[in-house]
Amino acid sequence: MHIDLSGKKVLVTGGSRGIGRAIAVRLAEAGADVAINYLRKVSSAEKTADLIRAAGGEAMIIKANVANEQHLQSMFDQIESQFGKLDILISNAASGVLKPVSELTLHHWHWTMDINAGTLIPMSQHFRRALPQGTTGNIIAVSSLGAIRAIPNYTAVGASKAALESVVRHLAAELASENIHVNAVSAGLVETDALRHFPNREELIKRSLEKTPAGRLTTPEDVADTVLFLCSPLADMIHGQTIIVDGGYSILG
Ligand SMILES: NC(=O)c1ccc[n+]([C@@H]2O[C@H](COP(=O)([O-])OP(=O)(O)OC[C@H]3O[C@@H](n4cnc5c(N)ncnc54)[C@H](OP(=O)(O)O)[C@@H]3O)[C@@H](O)[C@H]2O)c1
Repeated sequence: MHIDLSGKKVLVTGGSRGIGRAIAVRLAEAGADVAINYLRKVSSAEKTADLIRAAGGEAMIIKANVANEQHLQSMFDQIESQFGKLDILISNAASGVLKPVSELTLHHWHWTMDINAGTLIPMSQHFRRALPQGTTGNIIAVSSLGAIRAIPNYTAVGASKAALESVVRHLAAELASENIHVNAVSAGLVETDALRHFPNREELIKRSLEKTPAGRLTTPEDVADTVLFLCSPLADMIHGQTIIVDGGYSILG
């Protein structure tokens, strides 16, 4: 079935590279116009904007730290002035401190929680104002298996993803009556720049490959396809769920 997002306006946070870039391009291929948020690397954001335009969509790039309320205000103001509205919000940007619990500080904790989980609350408030009344909206957060499993060095990020999935459920319950769908897509290990920060990268990739029934790692495009499905009328009765895209990795003991 062809999924048509013509006329839809999308924001992808952390959309400049990795999984966010794949989501931005997939939604543009389906007809949407896409705003890309990034924090540091403008060249990556510009490359993604080129890919969006090549797919036929209008693109804009916005530098903002999603954990900063002034930056969020300015980002949504820019979207309002260029796009006039927002139909789909993809909360994908993430950061975090990868350390054993014995080395974590409260600063690490707050940093990770604010960027990965806390931001969804003010962003959802901005989104409600930007969504035209009486239309259907989608908020999709990108999560990870650390929300439900213990992964070495991943305590702060895993806890932030568990919090994120909980915010998704609570937001979904509040917003379903306004025709706003709120869901999460959780991915298995995906080879992106993010993995370079893991001290045990090679071992993680090897173990994931060995333990994935589907026989390969999850790609950014696998995640993007599920996001596209959730943005379509095919997912009309899905509210507050976390859909796991991992080739079956998490079903094995
Ligand atoms: N890779 C995996 O194995 C995996 C698995 C499951 C889930 N995920 C989730 O998928 C999402 C994307 O991961 P990825 O691997 O694609 O990451 P990535 O390649 O490291 O890209 C991270 C993106 O987030 C942006 N970003 C970071 N901090 C930000 C902030 N404070 N404000 C705004 N933007 C910020 C970065 O922008 P700059 O480049 O400008 O800094 C970049 O666009 C994350 O939520 C991650 O937790 C990843």
